[in-house]
Amino acid sequence: MMNAVTGAAIVGTGFMGRVHVDALRRLGVNVAGVVGSSRERAEAAGLAPAYDSFEAMLADTRVQAVHIATPNHLHHAQVKAAIAAGKHVVCEKPLAMSSEESADLLETARRSGLVHAVNHNLRFYPLVQHLHGVIADGGLGDIRLLSGHYLQDWLMRETDWNWRVDRSLGGALRAVGDIGSHWMDMTQFLTGLKITAVMADLARFIESRDSRDVETEDAATILLHYEGGARGAVVVSQVSPGRKNQLAFEIDGSKSSAAWSSESPDELWIGHGDRPSQLLPRDPNLLNDEGRAASFVPGGHVEGYADTFRALYAAIYAAIDAGRPGTNYPTFADGHDMMLVMDAITRSAGEGRWAHVQR
Ligand SMILES: NC(=O)c1ccc[n+]([C@@H]2O[C@H](COP(=O)([O-])OP(=O)(O)OC[C@H]3O[C@@H](n4cnc5c(N)ncnc54)[C@H](O)[C@@H]3O)[C@@H](O)[C@H]2O)c1
Repeated sequence: MMNAVTGAAIVGTGFMGRVHVDALRRLGVNVAGVVGSSRERAEAAGLAPAYDSFEAMLADTRVQAVHIATPNHLHHAQVKAAIAAGKHVVCEKPLAMSSEESADLLETARRSGLVHAVNHNLRFYPLVQHLHGVIADGGLGDIRLLSGHYLQDWLMRETDWNWRVDRSLGGALRAVGDIGSHWMDMTQFLTGLKITAVMADLARFIESRDSRDVETEDAATILLHYEGGARGAVVVSQVSPGRKNQLAFEIDGSKSSAAWSSESPDELWIGHGDRPSQLLPRDPNLLNDEGRAASFVPGGHVEGYADTFRALYAAIYAAIDAGRPGTNYPTFADGHDMMLVMDAITRSAGEGRWAHVQR
């Protein structure tokens, strides 16, 4: 499907490195190699040939696109260096540690003319893409209310530790930056409405993990104002027992509503007030063009998380093959926008009042 000369390299060989490599191979993109924290670690990951160093990867002329799948504190310097070397860049979320960094990356990327994308892959669940088209066509009417949550349980114990807990590696906002950003990006994408103001309450239930003091939040409850007067409320948590990884939303419009959960991603509930509500299965024959483009297999064959990367990269690599940025995938503009929303969340939580998103 893809241009056979396109070559990619992946930086970071953990959870995301594995998933990026897998998705690219499914698309027929040549994975020239991977960069880890050391050559030995990259080799041990067994994903693709390991480079001696990040710089050696940048010097490889077979590599047109670089995927940054490293801890957040490394994104800014690695993206800058990749763009300076003339590579298209796909960067994991959150795009950077601060809005100053993300503004710099956005400006640098725009000036370069290269393709820049931020890895908000969850937008690419087929039914989420379908709903985007439904909302754009006025299928829900005016958007009034957005509610939902993103809940996980993998940091619920005092012994649970990960680089994300350390603000110098993951950023000042942990649960919000790591998963809340996906929920807010998804609702902005679906409705086409930007978040304009927030009232945020950040909570830390575990003050010390593995004998180390913790400065980042375990959970957050956030009220949201969207453009056009829509209201939202989201709960974000990494300490919710039994919730492995559930992003759920409901969007209520003046005509109809829609609800979806990432733990049942092949079902979309469409609510009506004046006739029976509907449960739409992910059957490409029943979806609009956007939903069909993101689907890989026929209905009844469940698609999931790893498939969203394939669908996202199909859009990004079409732009890379065309040699210029496209419009149908999340870019550094979206990544920077989310950092501005997170700035407002930090301000609101610190001051105990509503804060406007300063764009
Ligand atoms: N889009 C999503 O759904 C999603 C899911 C999980 C994580 N993420 C994001 O992906 C990024 C990576 O997260 P992860 O869960 O894969 O973390 P991870 O800890 O599993 O992997 C990080 C990898 O980076 C490597 N690394 C560390 N320093 C390095 C360096 N200097 N050069 C090269 N490699 C280095 C580590 O050895 C490790 O292999 C983060 O930004 C995270 O927010 C996104």
